[in-house]
Amino acid sequence: MTEMAYSGYAEDTPEHRQDRIRRVIGHLKEGTTDSYDRLATIHASEYTDPELARRERDLIFGRVPSIVAHGSELATPGAFVTVQMPRNKLIVVRQPDGSVKAFVNACRHRGAMLETEPSGKCRLFSCPYHRWSYDTDGSLRTITREDTFGPELDKSNLSLAEVPCQERHGFVWVIDDVEGEIDVAAWLGPEMDAILGSYGMEESVCFRSGSFEEPANWKLMQDAFLDGYHIQYAHPNTAGKYIHTNVSVLEDFGRHCRWIKPRKSIDRWIDEDPADRPMEKYLIETHYLGPNSTLLKQPDHFELLTFRPHPKDPGRSFMEMRVIPPRPEATDLDGEQWNALWEKNWDILLRVLHAEDFPILRGTQAAVESANTAPMTLGRNELANHIFRREVERMLAAEDRG
Ligand code: FES
Ligand SMILES: [Fe+2]
Repeated sequence: MTEMAYSGYAEDTPEHRQDRIRRVIGHLKEGTTDSYDRLATIHASEYTDPELARRERDLIFGRVPSIVAHGSELATPGAFVTVQMPRNKLIVVRQPDGSVKAFVNACRHRGAMLETEPSGKCRLFSCPYHRWSYDTDGSLRTITREDTFGPELDKSNLSLAEVPCQERHGFVWVIDDVEGEIDVAAWLGPEMDAILGSYGMEESVCFRSGSFEEPANWKLMQDAFLDGYHIQYAHPNTAGKYIHTNVSVLEDFGRHCRWIKPRKSIDRWIDEDPADRPMEKYLIETHYLGPNSTLLKQPDHFELLTFRPHPKDPGRSFMEMRVIPPRPEATDLDGEQWNALWEKNWDILLRVLHAEDFPILRGTQAAVESANTAPMTLGRNELANHIFRREVERMLAAEDRG
């Protein structure tokens, strides 16, 4: 027996939460899981075709908002991060009025990379080549030896190229195209916007972010973090010990979805009705935030995993990982204990990724690059992966500006 995903989200009432928990316990009893209504066939070209990769960059990342930072990484005016997006290299910087802007990281003189650090804080961006400088709002402030440069030059026409950027629910989102128009609430839709709003992630802080370039297509990488079927097989001595494999209850919101996975500690409630007991500690709540992130809500913190295509090579991608706990002052811990706790958490997550997931994913990319790779199969049980795939296909069906 399998059950389809349900989309009956009204609001996150206690009844709704208990209903999801009862469904997940029912699955554990029956050996079932929420599932899709059909299998899918996957072709190796999805991970290797340069024209498809170009369409993904333009029609997905050039059109819809995706997360580039947590707001706390840009805590004060002038704080910036630089990001390799699929179409542009960007500088994302906090403004004096508290808003956030994003610019193409290329000087308007002769194109030098303006900011070469991954993150930092500055009052202005100063080009290393001939020392033109830009305000943090992207406007050109000074030209060195301006009197010799040419009287016809108009500085007001030489601001940095700006891409749409907005902060919402604690995250900074951009559309990777100067022509885009950003509306994160509209992109999230009413259900996911309300869910993220209820989490209060703007009150949390990004303990650390890390970026890894991996020789695997971004969809292979993203898929591994929507996958509840590999847990006991690829992670037998880590996550597989604590989390049930191949069991989820999922809510499909169209562009995004949310599902719960039970921890093994839930097993005592299989034969005893939990009634309205709080069950959060027995669950991991996972969200696919289209187009390219997985948000894990753990009982005491959040983890965000983000996947971006390489700008040229379909066989490479960038993954970013963030651990987002409550601020130290919102906990009972002193600064040192707080640091030690999240340092440990970070190390565990990093070790599992590097030792267990990444080798499989590098191997997968290498394997599907064989000229005669046979078509592959996605099971009904791999529900969140189907939703990701369905949404990628939907975005690629949009009209191509070429
Ligand atoms: S390229 Fe930036 S100042 Fe010349
Ligand atoms: Fe994994």
